[in-house]
Amino acid sequence: MKILVFFLLCCLFSKFVWSSPRRYTAIFNFGNSLSDTGNFLLSGALAYPEIKNLPYGETFFHHTTGRFSNGRLIIDFIAEAFGLPYLPPYLAVAKGPPVRTGVNFAVAGATALDSSFFYAQNIGLWTNDSLSVQLGWFQNFMKFLCTTRQECDDYFKKSLFLAGEMGGNDYLFPLFSGQTMKQLRAMVPQVVGAVARAIRILIEEGAVDLLVPGQFPIGCSPTILTLYHSPNKSAYDPRTGCLKAYDALFEYHDNYLKQELQKLREEYPLARIMYADYYGFYGGALKACCGESGPYHYNASVSCGEPGSTVCKDPSAFVNWDGIHLTESTYHHVAKGLIYGGFTSPPLLS
Ligand SMILES: *[C@@H]1O[C@H](CO)[C@@H](O)[C@H](O)[C@H]1NC(C)=O
Ligand SMILES: *[C@@H]1O[C@H](CO)[C@@H](O)[C@H](O)[C@H]1NC(C)=O
Ligand SMILES: *[C@@H]1O[C@H](CO)[C@@H](O)[C@H](O)[C@H]1NC(C)=O
Repeated sequence: MKILVFFLLCCLFSKFVWSSPRRYTAIFNFGNSLSDTGNFLLSGALAYPEIKNLPYGETFFHHTTGRFSNGRLIIDFIAEAFGLPYLPPYLAVAKGPPVRTGVNFAVAGATALDSSFFYAQNIGLWTNDSLSVQLGWFQNFMKFLCTTRQECDDYFKKSLFLAGEMGGNDYLFPLFSGQTMKQLRAMVPQVVGAVARAIRILIEEGAVDLLVPGQFPIGCSPTILTLYHSPNKSAYDPRTGCLKAYDALFEYHDNYLKQELQKLREEYPLARIMYADYYGFYGGALKACCGESGPYHYNASVSCGEPGSTVCKDPSAFVNWDGIHLTESTYHHVAKGLIYGGFTSPPLLS
């Protein structure tokens, strides 16, 4: 009888745990400015010193944290949903003491491909902390978390790994340095290959649950809409007002990524690889909240945070924050779609 009661309790409890939002005990994130919570700032922010100033961070933290938004990012809302602290940037905790609830390895400007790929073509970058550098940081940090294979497996199977969004910068830096759409398209297999390689390494290290987001519709960003403005009406999607060719590139990347993820699921049937669709949510105004003049409130020579830039009164009414990154309210909306269903397949909470 006692055994039966124990059995019931154990299994009811574990069922509860596995279906409640407290399922994960740690989160590890890899990525770029869409999820960086301070690494770029801690590494000096030379390529974008504006991140050191308000209005970055004005809405929630009330000071700058290195996040490229007015407030919280998707990764922050995911941490909240699982009852975990906001992920500290790796560079703040690299020397210990060990943080056991998760660490953020993302760096603004980071690329999926190694920086040498870009330097070889004279393409400048914001940072050399590409995906493989971030993975090296993770492998270095593992010594704080577990020592034996069994210990690592037990710990990582209760962790959530976020790999991305990654790859957007791999196209944007070459685009800004003058490469053609044809050249960018030719990069897609390599860029997706770098993401797939990272996922494989994480699984080999013990990751079981991985969330891999696709791209945001870049053709809707005030930066692209301003820099690649076209007099040709048919360059724009009549429904959204976004530039079709740029969205098509990122959709091509997403479709390629989805195929690679399917291959990885077959290769690693015990891993749970979730794809997050960031395309589904979009819609709404195309103006940036923070910027300067022009039809999209974006001006490449006056960045958000620089003297002369202006900030909207109510960022929550805007999708876009600074021309490329999104507002806290947009990130919140996307995060809800990831956690409770709609944007992830399979959903994060299932
Ligand atoms: C990245 O590496 C290149 C080439 O080694 C170097 O010139 C550049 O200063 C580095 N950039 C940063 C931000 O560290
Ligand atoms: C306008 O854009 C469409 C679609 O991008 C293209 O097919 C067409 O050739 C362009 N027309 C001109 C005059 O550039
Ligand atoms: C962008 O800002 C510069 C500097 O203030 C200004 O000279 C220029 O006219 C602006 N461009 C647009 C399109 O508003």
